[in-house]
Amino acid sequence: MARASTKKADQKSGKAYEFVDHYHDVVVVGAGGSGLRATLGMAEQGLKTACVTKVFPTRSHTVAAQGGIAASLGNMGPDNWQWHLYDTIKGSDWLGDVDAMEYLVQEAPAAVYELEHYGVPFSRTEEGKIYQRPFGGHTTEFGEGPPVQRTCAAADRTGHAILHTLYGQSLRHNAEFYIEYFAIDLMMSKDGVCTGIIAWNLDDGTMHRFNAKMVVLATGGYGRAYFSATSAHTCTGDGNGMVARAGLPLQDMEFVQFHPTGIYGAGCLITEGARGEGGYLTNSEGERFMERYAPTYKDLASRDVVSRCMTMEIREGRGVGAKGDHIHLHLNHLPSEVLAERLPGISESARIFAGVDLNKEPIPVIPTVHYNMGGVPTNYWGEVLNPTAKDPDRVTPGLMAVGEAACASVHGANRLGSNSLIDLVVFGRAAAIRAGKVVDREAPIPTPDAAYCDKIMDHFDKMRHSDGKTPTAHLRDEMQHIMQEDAAVFRTQSTLKQGCQRISATWGKMSDIKVSDRSMIWNSDLVETLELENLMASAITTVYGAEARKESRGAHAREDFKDRDDKVWRKHTLSMLDEKGKVKLTYRPVHTKPLLAEKDGGIDLKRIAPKARVY
Ligand code: FUM
Repeated sequence: MARASTKKADQKSGKAYEFVDHYHDVVVVGAGGSGLRATLGMAEQGLKTACVTKVFPTRSHTVAAQGGIAASLGNMGPDNWQWHLYDTIKGSDWLGDVDAMEYLVQEAPAAVYELEHYGVPFSRTEEGKIYQRPFGGHTTEFGEGPPVQRTCAAADRTGHAILHTLYGQSLRHNAEFYIEYFAIDLMMSKDGVCTGIIAWNLDDGTMHRFNAKMVVLATGGYGRAYFSATSAHTCTGDGNGMVARAGLPLQDMEFVQFHPTGIYGAGCLITEGARGEGGYLTNSEGERFMERYAPTYKDLASRDVVSRCMTMEIREGRGVGAKGDHIHLHLNHLPSEVLAERLPGISESARIFAGVDLNKEPIPVIPTVHYNMGGVPTNYWGEVLNPTAKDPDRVTPGLMAVGEAACASVHGANRLGSNSLIDLVVFGRAAAIRAGKVVDREAPIPTPDAAYCDKIMDHFDKMRHSDGKTPTAHLRDEMQHIMQEDAAVFRTQSTLKQGCQRISATWGKMSDIKVSDRSMIWNSDLVETLELENLMASAITTVYGAEARKESRGAHAREDFKDRDDKVWRKHTLSMLDEKGKVKLTYRPVHTKPLLAEKDGGIDLKRIAPKARVY
């Protein structure tokens, strides 16, 4: 560790900011499932690895993942990776990159067994195998057969079990943790190489430069750009904000997933595993309406489909409750032993947050923002892309992204339930494998560009001393309502156009922000303001990307362009954001070729050709 002063001084005291310098082969930002799996994989190989995280690792949002992790183990009946691949491609509404999706599903079983060997306490079958449950959109026989039981579960606390296990394993391999450090920005060299991050130690107010040969962003999604989300309050798109400020693009931001069953009013998740175990939805007429919309898979259709159907029922006057604005989820017909053994967590959530005993009554639910398909574009090794027209797969040296922060793109326009946890561990592991190959252990650790660091501190200081009239909480509330109203389950040109105008106006108000606390130690006012900047970058690119995409695909459902248009729109959106809040959109092609040729055991190309997406 060394210390260095910057030219940039605190504008009030005149005292220069001082950096504590750290040198590592790899620095991972974020300690959720993907961050911990990457940290563990790096440390296992002897790479000197730091994991920098704004919350204690086991409080990361992965802890809230309930239903499980998808892998074609075939413990409950026939399954294989080709079926899983087909379901994932169909779930993505043909926007996902086929090579990345194939890598995911092929590696999934090994990644789950690895978790088992690390110590994850999976639920078990009578024979002692890992228990697997059905989840929406997961089928057999390339969508022609019955639902498959593919989602490996530790009751309904699977994320909790994985997170605790991975943290323990990372410590065992001597990864260094910097906990309650808030990452402010990436450090970039003049020639576009990422050389580390600047982070603020919230506990003692010191500033740190983590200089590294590889930075891995594992900062999660940006659910909190919306008013009602299943995501933790810490899900503020910090990686997206850092990437945008470094002049790099974000990808497919318009695709925001609504989970069908957030508790009405509270927003807490009720796992899709509830429907996997036999739960079903009803409207005000007591009708199991999913049978009408998705005759084959019913309540186990893909979650974008179920969310839209629920919204249509409510709009057509068949919602439940005094205002007719939500839907009922029934589990009261299931044996209480099943609820106690398989769904203990949601039994508790329903009691606490909805006042419901799910042995006796239905749970009031409503589609709630749950997941961001878009994020930092990467290849399937986690390397961040900075595409050009000539080279749409150009890699940004020194920078990787994994997990929900990244867009690999394995989920395309819509993610299947339980494909998130598997994404975290497969790509966290892939990033570590790749770093093991591309990080030169003998090379010196890059030194930071002093002028670039001054610029970062200049901005930090400006935010710290913001003295406008708009409190951070007010502006955040304004942004969240715009997103909720104008970038919702169903979208139209007029809502999206209005959304663009409103979100740009809100962006403009960042210059009038008021930060009341100027201190450096546990200044939550300033943390929330920096988080709001990151949310705002995510929100504005979401709305502009959605306005431009004149089709319906996956979670992007436009009432004025009801169909998918593969000829024009089977492409990824890239959005660049400048300092003035202008969004520039370009596009890059979808990878449509699998990794394995059919003659070598790969999937039949005819199977994965785009077609109508019905369940
Ligand atoms: O419903 C759930 O348990 C959520 C799972 C997921 O988003 O993958």
